[in-house]
Amino acid sequence: MHRVIIDTDPGQDDAFALLLALASPEIEVLGVTTVAGNVSVTQTADNARRILELAGHGDVKVFAGAERPILRPARPVPEIHGATGIDGWDWAPAKKGAEAKHAVDWMVETLLREPSGDVSLIALAPQTNLALALCRAPAIAGRIKRIVFMGGGYFEGGNMTPAAEYNILVDPEAAAIVLNSGVDIVATPLDCTHSAPAPVGWSAELEALGSDVGRACGGMMRFFEQYGNRKYGTPSRPLHDAIAVGALLWPDLFEGKRCPVDIECAGRLTTGMTVVDWLRQTGQKDNCLWLRHCTDPVELYRRMREELARLPKT
Ligand code: RIB
Ligand code: CA
Repeated sequence: MHRVIIDTDPGQDDAFALLLALASPEIEVLGVTTVAGNVSVTQTADNARRILELAGHGDVKVFAGAERPILRPARPVPEIHGATGIDGWDWAPAKKGAEAKHAVDWMVETLLREPSGDVSLIALAPQTNLALALCRAPAIAGRIKRIVFMGGGYFEGGNMTPAAEYNILVDPEAAAIVLNSGVDIVATPLDCTHSAPAPVGWSAELEALGSDVGRACGGMMRFFEQYGNRKYGTPSRPLHDAIAVGALLWPDLFEGKRCPVDIECAGRLTTGMTVVDWLRQTGQKDNCLWLRHCTDPVELYRRMREELARLPKT
């Protein structure tokens, strides 16, 4: 059983990740924290509420976090995710709002309260909340079981600049704090996600689930892959954040290597780059399991769809 806090900036691929985590009997979602990323923090919190309620898990609490990265301005990407961040479905308004407590405060309290080594963090956005929590209460580093994050790219380069992937580029200082925290970290970078595009036409298979969840996922998938298919000239796109949850659930489908990874925070052309010492030339500590690729994408998406089918048919 994985007991997790999910830090996220929904985002269609974040939505799939949340739904997958909520559907899986192997995951207990203790709460959802949101951050400024794909859209504003108020919008990501509202989006998380709508996704939880669609999945029949309105009981799970949402906590809004940082309104901007530590040193840099927020960098919403409506051109990728749409004005709402989860375009592609006509979402019912959330019945309940986010909690009054700040995400960083709740994250720290939860990690200090729950048994040490029991709770993992799934990080699907710029890592501002995680970094602030680690600075606010350094003791949580020794209590976090594992951080699984979607972000970065080395062999694949970046998706926002030639060197940088979005989640890391938006807040590279936060990512550097997290990667140097001493916590056990699993990275699901573009190297991995680009090896696992969704099956072509997967939207129709999602809609065939015959549930609002399936129809919402089909619509989000259709919207989400437009931008990437145009940019990369591909027939389908990977659901980056959902693949990170897949890596937690099904490590048998992924290959990678523990090695030293650090963040470039000052390069004129390379700010936000995840510098992966794959050949261990720096002599630095292996601080991250860097997943380089998915070994069976067809099976990965089959399992994802099977999990999504568990969610209520409402
Ligand atoms: O680069 C992909 C990442 O950036 C995903 O987390 C996506 O949701 C966006 O936040
Ligand atoms: Ca995201």
